[in-house]
Amino acid sequence: MLWALTEARAVLGHRTAGWVRTMASRSLLVAPPAALSKPLFIPSRLLLGPGPSNLTPRVMAAGGLPVLGHMHQEVYQIMDEIKQGIQYVFQTRNPLSLAISGSGHCALEAALFNLLEPGDSFLVGVSGIWGQRAQDIAERIGARVCPMVKAPGGHFTLQEVEEALAQHKPVLLFLAHGESSTGVLQPLDGYGELCHRHQCLLLVDSVASLGGAPIYMDRQDTCGVLRLAQPAWNGVGPAGEGSGPTARLDGIDVLYSGSQKVLNAPPGTSLISFSDKAKNKIYARKTKPVSFYLDIQWLANFWGCDDRPRTYHHTTPIISLYSLRESLAHLAEQGLENSWQQHREASEYLHTCLQGLGLQLFVKDQALRLPTITSVVVPMGYDWRDIVKYIMDHHHIEIAGGLGPSAGKVLRIGLLGGNATRENVDRVTRALREALQRCPRSKL
Ligand code: GLV
Repeated sequence: MLWALTEARAVLGHRTAGWVRTMASRSLLVAPPAALSKPLFIPSRLLLGPGPSNLTPRVMAAGGLPVLGHMHQEVYQIMDEIKQGIQYVFQTRNPLSLAISGSGHCALEAALFNLLEPGDSFLVGVSGIWGQRAQDIAERIGARVCPMVKAPGGHFTLQEVEEALAQHKPVLLFLAHGESSTGVLQPLDGYGELCHRHQCLLLVDSVASLGGAPIYMDRQDTCGVLRLAQPAWNGVGPAGEGSGPTARLDGIDVLYSGSQKVLNAPPGTSLISFSDKAKNKIYARKTKPVSFYLDIQWLANFWGCDDRPRTYHHTTPIISLYSLRESLAHLAEQGLENSWQQHREASEYLHTCLQGLGLQLFVKDQALRLPTITSVVVPMGYDWRDIVKYIMDHHHIEIAGGLGPSAGKVLRIGLLGGNATRENVDRVTRALREALQRCPRSKL
């Protein structure tokens, strides 16, 4: 106790130290941390990594509003508005659309915990970290996991998926629309229809792509934008509505995304929606999902997605829901198509600037580049960590290195939501040019 008193006096001054002594005499083992007596300090940074992105003023204002109870009518109203916002940004009419109290990872777990039962066959496209994570989670559930593996930077063609569906007969296929670790935009046109012909559901991760690249959950025909990326399949060229022998109108069964990228909301909430086919599978389960927190039948009730009166499930992060509501309202006001165009233009400008610096884009095919997160080959002779650190230290801008299988191979620059501007591209280009001049370069 004597030690605690002397130490605490030195750090906290006599008044607080006296409190420590009093409390210590009541058997407190740990003194109040000195670090917590300092004011909270948050530096100003431009977040041009893969997320989180900077919050918009409207979203920040929502974060300062008073807390209400999670079962107050006003909060139910906000939850209903979030559901409508999800239906808009996902372009779906699914009634089972809601927000999860947790980051995008949590939405991935919610999807897999509810859709898979032990022994179910699960086909997963692994060409970056998100496929790896889906594989890991499904293995924990005891599913029979069948990975389709590609080197980082790869994507999965309809033909490859069809062969794997025929071979493994899965109940569920996972694809990442925006593979943030590699900067690849996975084409989706026709995959839902293909899965449904094989009695398989399609689960898509759009954490990194939502709001930045077209996605239509209920009708995965993106009218040209992704069709350009779609290789010919079984001798049939890319088909849109009425333009080929089959009109590919079947959509995605489960789609999820996160709050912290294009939506410019704080990390910690995610969006998810289930088709009727997916819902039926969940409601016909033989076993309970292993997670109570993420049990969709409970969440559906709490979010007012079924006909029963809402009952308590868990205490939702109310303030984060305000922020999410405001971020969805902002995107709805801007309009999805305008947002897609903003991201396409900003990323194309970034690509031109990067190539002007002599840098190489990691994804060679322009049609497969994610408009939200650009991956750049780490320039020869440099340590990527030096570049990232230089830009943070000297320009207060975050960019990132690779992640999972792309670690050490790429630098990643995110233009997410309100951050997707020419001005920000100019800032990061200037910072990169300087970093390339000043960072050490090994002799080749
Ligand atoms: C997270 O989403 C990342 O790609 O770093």
